[in-house]
Amino acid sequence: MAAAAAAQISSIVSSSSKGGASSFREQSSRLPTTTSCISFSSSKLNANLSIKSLETRRHHKSSTVCSAVIAESNSEQMELDTSLSPRVNSVKPSKTVAISDKATALVEAGVPVIRLAAGEPDFDTPAVIAEAGINAIREGYTRYTPNAGTLELRTAICKKLKEENDISYTPDQIVVSNGAKQSILQAVLAVCSPGDEVIIPAPFWVSYPEMARLADATPVILPASISENFLLDPKLLESKLTEKSRLLILCSPSNPTGSVYPKNVLEEIARVVAKHPRLLVISDEIYEHIIYSPAVHTSFASLPGMWERTLTVNGFSKAFAMTGWRLGYIAGPKHFIAACNKIQSQSTSGASSIAQKAAVAALGMGYAGGEAVSHMVKAFRERRDFLVAAFGELEGVKISEPQGAFYLFLDFSYYYGSEVDGFGLINDSESLCRYFLEHGQVALVPGDAFGDDTCIRISYAAALSTLQAAAERIKKAIHTIKPPVSD
Ligand SMILES: Cc1ncc(COP(=O)(O)O)c(C=O)c1O
Repeated sequence: MAAAAAAQISSIVSSSSKGGASSFREQSSRLPTTTSCISFSSSKLNANLSIKSLETRRHHKSSTVCSAVIAESNSEQMELDTSLSPRVNSVKPSKTVAISDKATALVEAGVPVIRLAAGEPDFDTPAVIAEAGINAIREGYTRYTPNAGTLELRTAICKKLKEENDISYTPDQIVVSNGAKQSILQAVLAVCSPGDEVIIPAPFWVSYPEMARLADATPVILPASISENFLLDPKLLESKLTEKSRLLILCSPSNPTGSVYPKNVLEEIARVVAKHPRLLVISDEIYEHIIYSPAVHTSFASLPGMWERTLTVNGFSKAFAMTGWRLGYIAGPKHFIAACNKIQSQSTSGASSIAQKAAVAALGMGYAGGEAVSHMVKAFRERRDFLVAAFGELEGVKISEPQGAFYLFLDFSYYYGSEVDGFGLINDSESLCRYFLEHGQVALVPGDAFGDDTCIRISYAAALSTLQAAAERIKKAIHTIKPPVSD
């Protein structure tokens, strides 16, 4: 790649990570250590009111952030407390979103980056679903729905869970939300007390540990290695559970690894879980339909003794290519579901009425999404096969063949410690992804975002021809790296 393009990428990558307070001047040294302030020109504001509120906050013990800025202005100035909640400061922003944004900025700047970072199907929402949404608008179905979702949709979800997953729920045991992400967060907030432990097998979906932190709980990460197909070892789980363990979060098929838990492993996990009366399980099954036979999906709640303690999460984003419609749901015992419903009632209220009509149509498309979904799964499988073969040829790269979802989680750690002319040292997943972006023009996500720094994640929700081009670029970039000589 031309040096000029690499320089352009470097400048976009670095400027997009600097934040946007360029018109402000840092002023922290002049201010009390417990206060964080912005000084504004008071010409357009009620200066008395704002200054008074700052005086109040100066005595507020929870104000711990010490950073202050002053607006460039010639006119009279006033100050404002800009400190943030310690809860916000404990949460890391999503790396997948950050990398997707950087890649988009590069594309907009004219750099032909291939974006394989986002976790989003490249297919359009099936027409029958889209039509149902359009009809909902035409028919004036545009008002608030019940907080937990329409009875029509919750009834359809109960039918789906019974027929496809062998788990029985009634509509009052379902809450529909603006995406499975909201469903999971609400469940974590509903059941965790400060200091509780949330057990998360790694590699994990980026949001689980941050959700635990938002609930003032402690994420406990249990690593699973590529040689075990990234599956949690039930013995490791058993050894780590304490009376503080409140939640175990399972994800199958998995983002980022594509691993699918075989039924016998889930049964072993269930036997361990059953020994701990405080322990609940969130079973994130959002990739359920994107699965490659002979792998078979098992719902954790269908295992003996697990219904009472399992919160089953699913959604429409992935299998039905409905990411922008924002619709997911949670199912579980009424006691816990009512708590999730309560949180939702004081935050977002019910999900979109239009998306809910569309979701009813999605569930009406047949078993496991019918023809339209199996057509997408077939395409995902072809892409997976291509990538596994393409990367299988690369020296030192370790692969666990994904059985579901649309991600490949490759171990590139063989190349860590390499020095590349014109780039520098590659010593972790972050520097390797930066190298692939700057010298191969391919956007991927570093494994450390998912709790495993040996790997990087490739999302194969892209046309086969795009993946072929990306694999070529990655191989070319890899061939210019000289792996470190081991002693
Ligand atoms: C494992 C997993 N769970 C939940 C979600 C949330 O999906 P949504 O909020 O779009 O329904 C995602 C999205 O990337 C995911 O990968």
